[in-house]
Amino acid sequence: MSNEDMSEANLPSEREHAHHGAVEPVGDPFADPGLPPHEPRRQDIDERTARRSERTVALLFTLSMVATVGFIASYVIFPIGKIVYIFPFGHVSALNFALGLTLGVALFAIGAGAVHWARTLMSDEEVPDERHAIEATPEVREKVFADFRQGVKESQFGRRRLIRTTMMGALSLVPLSGIVLLRDLGPLPEKKLRTTAWRAGMRLINQNTNEPLRPEDIGVGSLTFAKPEGLSEDDENFQNVIAKAALMIVRLNPQDIKDKRELEWSHQGIVAYSKICTHVGCPISLYEQQTHHVLCPCHQSTFDLSDGGRVIFGPAGHALPQLRISVNAQGYLEALGDFEEPVGPSFWERG
Ligand code: FES
Repeated sequence: MSNEDMSEANLPSEREHAHHGAVEPVGDPFADPGLPPHEPRRQDIDERTARRSERTVALLFTLSMVATVGFIASYVIFPIGKIVYIFPFGHVSALNFALGLTLGVALFAIGAGAVHWARTLMSDEEVPDERHAIEATPEVREKVFADFRQGVKESQFGRRRLIRTTMMGALSLVPLSGIVLLRDLGPLPEKKLRTTAWRAGMRLINQNTNEPLRPEDIGVGSLTFAKPEGLSEDDENFQNVIAKAALMIVRLNPQDIKDKRELEWSHQGIVAYSKICTHVGCPISLYEQQTHHVLCPCHQSTFDLSDGGRVIFGPAGHALPQLRISVNAQGYLEALGDFEEPVGPSFWERG
């Protein structure tokens, strides 16, 4: 048999359907078996069984609500550090265990309720849906809405009031868990961002020598850094405190001070300003004594210490806060209170 004969022998169906050179398509070799006949469930034919299923679904949704309330209550009941022994997990945080358990039950009960509802009460009749063009015509859209209405009817959402009510309750309570979780962001800052460690009568301590400062220690044109009395570098929260309370002390000729309030808050031309840049909080450290300007090295914001700490260049949003100072009976420089405005980045003032 030649190759030509063999290829023809391998294509009997195409040859059989060939007609004047055209090849006709062969029929679908797999016949559509169709859908098996629908078998009604017990719930479809027995209303008492259907009611039992309804109660089971409602019970699961109610369980979810109770678990969500338990989740919220756990935050109040269990202290954060409480450790308990729970078999087989061993020693675990009581709070974390309670939160995990209650949230797990709340979500699981909603899922289980929905599945049980779908399996026992919603219509389980299979219907073929022919493929059609992607672009929906008005008729198709109307059909979709009709199908949706039919689905709502078949799900018995309107008829089963107990399920509807408990499901709404479970779904509206579960998001509360997320709100409660906000507590894990940590304690509220309260007034911590608006205040510093400075108090009236607190002496200014030289940050390099740890000695209390006297006016005669500060020469004209010099720049001295100071911290509040009683604050030690060995303190656990030293960095947190100094990050807001750090001071720059400069002595100016009183006649060079242009700002009236600055003059009143100074002592013999000695002015105390926050060292924290009001842009994004870098420590300022560059002082130009001829112009009385201080420069922030991060983004070059420049402040005029002879004019109320006013911004004269750069991205900083407002003037450097000034600390009101005086001299106590022993001749040491002391604060007359805290800063009157928040130190550091300007955005704290927007709150
Ligand atoms: S932090 Fe000082 S200019 Fe940006």
